[in-house]
Amino acid sequence: TTSSDNAVTAIAHTNIALIKYWGKQNADMIIPYTGSLSLTLDQFYTKTTVSFDQSLTRDNVSIDDQAVSGNSWQRVHDFLEIVRQKAGIKLNANVDSYNHVPTAAGLASSASAFAALAAAASKAANMNLDNQELSRLARRGSGSACRSIFGGFVEWQKGTEDRNSFAVPIETPNLDDIRIIALTVEKQQKPISSRQGMALSVTTSPYYPTWVKVVESDLQNIKSAIHDDDFTRFGTISELNAMRMHALTLSSNPDFLYFNGDTLDAMNEVKRLRHSGIECYYTIDAGPNVKVICQAKNVKTITETFSKLFGNEKVTVAQPGPGVKYL
Ligand code: PMV
Repeated sequence: TTSSDNAVTAIAHTNIALIKYWGKQNADMIIPYTGSLSLTLDQFYTKTTVSFDQSLTRDNVSIDDQAVSGNSWQRVHDFLEIVRQKAGIKLNANVDSYNHVPTAAGLASSASAFAALAAAASKAANMNLDNQELSRLARRGSGSACRSIFGGFVEWQKGTEDRNSFAVPIETPNLDDIRIIALTVEKQQKPISSRQGMALSVTTSPYYPTWVKVVESDLQNIKSAIHDDDFTRFGTISELNAMRMHALTLSSNPDFLYFNGDTLDAMNEVKRLRHSGIECYYTIDAGPNVKVICQAKNVKTITETFSKLFGNEKVTVAQPGPGVKYL
């Protein structure tokens, strides 16, 4: 067969964690120390086409029409090795990936990237995985990718080994007017990857054991807030949990910090808005960009406020998005 005969294209959207994943108990299998909970977003996605082809002498990888080499190539290649091993094939692959991000990136793409790659590569290799198996496979590329297999609110159940560590959707009609306003204050690559940062926190932060305990209750509390359609409790827990995660970076040895000056300005502005009666909360991942959590009714005011502060092009409004799809 030629490459186009068995080419499979999949689309996956990125997700924002409200209860964060920070630390692996098994780095090779990517088994986390804690569960986590996220919302899949409609605005940022990756579209990836994979075909296995016997005429190739190595894996060919392109992202946004640029041939990829070095570390990025290695990560995709390592992932394809897992797929080939599971499928029992030896063929090399063509991988063409496109990231759809409004303005100029800077938002987590590894989640959508590995979710789309897991779906496209496994199907191109003739495996017909169900969503739970896809979630387990995506997890091997990047932990947060296991949550992007599903749409809406998603919980990653930590498990203890490959077999039982996967994400599940939280089916709920509640909090459907939730909006995430992404403030892309910085597009540079982060100086410390989430992978390195987690490893440092796990091994050196004296607060790590406390984090593991606290996430347990944060998870229970946010699930009950979603169930009760209680936006105030939902937002409060999200903001607290994000700051608890960042306290692990400050308490590592050596210490590190993902915030910059704009991050602090945005955090202060969210608090100011909240005190003035516009209810909103912030969450921040392993980088300086801030995501504002709010409800549809306040999007206009919040968007205007941050457009004045950072410029229109830095502000993107997202709503709940879908799970992985094949084209
Ligand atoms: O999946 P990774 O290795 O990119 O780690 C993601 C880490 C955070 O974004 C900070 C938290 C999360 O749960 O997504």
